[in-house]
Amino acid sequence: MWRPLRRVGGAACLVAGVSAATLASRSSPTLAAPVDPPPMPMRVLGNTGLQVSVLSYGFWATFGAKGDLKNQEGVEMAKQCLSVARDAGINLIDNAEAYGTPNGEAERIMGEALRQLTLEDPEKWRRSELVITTKIFWGGPGVNERGLSVKHLREGLDASLKRLQLEYVDLVFCHRPDPMTPTATIVRGMSALVREGKATAWGTSEWSAQQQTEAICYANAHGLEPPQFEQPQYHMFHRERFETEYAPMYKQPYNLGTTIWSPLASGLLTGKYIHETPADSRGAASGYTWVGQKAEAWRKDGTMAKVERLKAYAEGTLGCTMSQLAIAWCLKNENVTTCLLGATKPHQLIETLGAVEVARKLTDEDMKAIEAILDNKPAPYQGYGFPAWVRGINKL
Ligand SMILES: *[C@@H]1O[C@H](CO)[C@@H](O)[C@H](O)[C@H]1NC(C)=O
Repeated sequence: MWRPLRRVGGAACLVAGVSAATLASRSSPTLAAPVDPPPMPMRVLGNTGLQVSVLSYGFWATFGAKGDLKNQEGVEMAKQCLSVARDAGINLIDNAEAYGTPNGEAERIMGEALRQLTLEDPEKWRRSELVITTKIFWGGPGVNERGLSVKHLREGLDASLKRLQLEYVDLVFCHRPDPMTPTATIVRGMSALVREGKATAWGTSEWSAQQQTEAICYANAHGLEPPQFEQPQYHMFHRERFETEYAPMYKQPYNLGTTIWSPLASGLLTGKYIHETPADSRGAASGYTWVGQKAEAWRKDGTMAKVERLKAYAEGTLGCTMSQLAIAWCLKNENVTTCLLGATKPHQLIETLGAVEVARKLTDEDMKAIEAILDNKPAPYQGYGFPAWVRGINKL
């Protein structure tokens, strides 16, 4: 099976241009050269200045949602999974007011797990090293318990902080665009929360590039806080928005950070669903019939046939699992700041953590072979105007 890559000297990975000897000769203990390269690469999240691990751990559709992951049982398993994640160098933990049944249960479990872990090992769980997120949109069943009104943004985040047992989150997202609340209202609401210190920065989830730029321009024109990151769906079979629509957002002046969700397409890219939906899988569980339906649709439209070929490539050529390949493929895109992993058991997380080594090993040839199997590369971003005459402008 998978063999880890040869380990390379650590200092080059730590600070470009500073040798191990230079680092070792400095007296400051915080600058001591590491023996090994950092196993978990970091990327800077947009303009926030925050470094986040390229893999991160999310609570969607797991804790507080599944029957055996509620209450004390849920807290215990969350502690185990969070420990595996933190030991592997993950520093970003993602949640939302909507996660769990009823809404907020996932935050309650995460808050309690983090409180207990911090008591048990205050050094490992230093708040100053963690990047904790939540997302506001679906707080409750009432008409004003959802959406992006200033009222719900404030009440929603306050309730999240209480469940998380925190004074602030690092990142707060608008979980969707809100067709009923003008962008100016949302920007004012989010700016106030950031300036009160309830979050250090804000971003969006599943907003169009147009909605993002409108919010950024409005904020900048009025001296308010612009959104700085987006949480979009991105995986091998969901590419258009991330690769084409957002293309200009990754450049200056936007420099958008991204925390991508569903790199395994809710499990469809694990390879488990190629021929049928296993009885013990999420796709067969009540409340997740949409996963089973999607698997069925993928079997009919030829997508699963591609997954089968990818799985063969992963196992036969690369010596890794299909899940690892699917995640590694996302990591190869430098516009992915961090890739959210879901897991309800430590062994699932340990497997997907191996994706970092796979990503390091994937060559241009591999990426070409994978692209040939996928055969779904979106058309490149065209920008404004028609390329043929744009190319002619300013030429003699
Ligand atoms: C990342 O975004 C930049 C800017 O749009 C683009 O030039 C580059 O091709 C993108 N990278 C990938 C792997 O798509």
